[in-house]
Amino acid sequence: VERDDYLIINHLSYPVYIGANPWDLLKEFVGPYLNGRGVFILTDLNTQKYCLPVLIEHVPSLAGIPSLAVEPGEQSKDLMSAGRIWNWLMENNAGRKSLLINLGGGVISDLGGFSAATFKRGMPFINIPTSLIGQADAAIGGKTGINHSGVKNQAGVFADPSAVFVFPAFLRTLPSDQIRSGFAEILKSALLAGNDVWERIRSVESPYGETDESLIIESVKYKAKLVSIDPYDHSSRKALNFGHTAGHAIESFFNRPGMPGMLHGDAVAEGMVCEAFISSGLAGLPETDMESIISTIIRHFPVKSIDGQYFEEILSLMEHDKKKLGTGINFSLLKSIGHPVVDIEAEREIIFQSFRYLNQISRL
Ligand SMILES: NC(=O)c1ccc[n+]([C@@H]2O[C@H](COP(=O)([O-])OP(=O)(O)OC[C@H]3O[C@@H](n4cnc5c(N)ncnc54)[C@H](O)[C@@H]3O)[C@@H](O)[C@H]2O)c1
Repeated sequence: VERDDYLIINHLSYPVYIGANPWDLLKEFVGPYLNGRGVFILTDLNTQKYCLPVLIEHVPSLAGIPSLAVEPGEQSKDLMSAGRIWNWLMENNAGRKSLLINLGGGVISDLGGFSAATFKRGMPFINIPTSLIGQADAAIGGKTGINHSGVKNQAGVFADPSAVFVFPAFLRTLPSDQIRSGFAEILKSALLAGNDVWERIRSVESPYGETDESLIIESVKYKAKLVSIDPYDHSSRKALNFGHTAGHAIESFFNRPGMPGMLHGDAVAEGMVCEAFISSGLAGLPETDMESIISTIIRHFPVKSIDGQYFEEILSLMEHDKKKLGTGINFSLLKSIGHPVVDIEAEREIIFQSFRYLNQISRL
């Protein structure tokens, strides 16, 4: 539904509002919770500084309500932070009719969604995503969770937010490397959707300027469509995993203690290189599509190589991932741009070849 100053995406069981001015809707939404049921705001230290004042300026009734800020970054997506959130909710007498507002990036919506969904067997929460990954992807779809024992998303639940409010203006304070990271998810979504969306992405000179709101909208619409057909990831939703089976393992690997770290989107970009290669071997991805994908990725992302001695370790991280099936590893691939295929099993040899291919690309 298009309005003058915002758009409502209604494919899901909860509304997603996108635009410059759904503030009045947010005010209306929180009203009943403020009358005695309790509202709580979860941020990280960055979104506490940059986003919480903006939220309170637009929704003054939220001034003075309890808020908790965790350390920024992936390391906060863990059981210790979830425990901290449960303690904080208990100390402030939150109940099953209270509301948690997740104000932050994908770490905050994953962690806050998980903590709310498990607190007293479930309290309502809304997402107000402030990063590009959050706005284009993580805040919608109902997947919540935390990392455990060095492996991403090992514990979690499907739990829908009651609503999602996307204000692209929050992106103004987002650092440029985080914009690039979010651009990876937008790029992935365009590869799956194909057609003119992919052509528009290919012509983006640099994602660092004012990010095109229409690309965020395309990404949310595409995700909402797949999630509404297959909310629990049994079939078509799995397409959204393109780049993520390899990407998550690479992300976990580079984020081990003592390693230099890697942003989620940068890891997904590397994962898309590997999985485009596997797609050409196992799903028939044409050479021209492959070139179009790789040239776009190397134009925007710092593709890092992986020393051959670590291939086994990355493979075993993939085996821990939820997509394992039979003897090989289960991938979501591309038959061509715009035509995803799911549940394709790849054996170690082609996976290792894809790492070698990634290393070639990293030298280009
Ligand atoms: N649940 C899902 O469907 C889903 C989908 C994609 C990604 N994810 C998860 O999302 C996470 C990555 O998301 P992310 O990149 O948003 O991580 P993030 O939440 O750590 O945010 C990235 C960085 O940007 C900062 N930040 C956020 N908004 C800001 C703003 N407006 N101004 C200034 N700084 C700001 C944060 O403090 C953080 O340092 C990963 O854990 C990934 O697994 C989940």
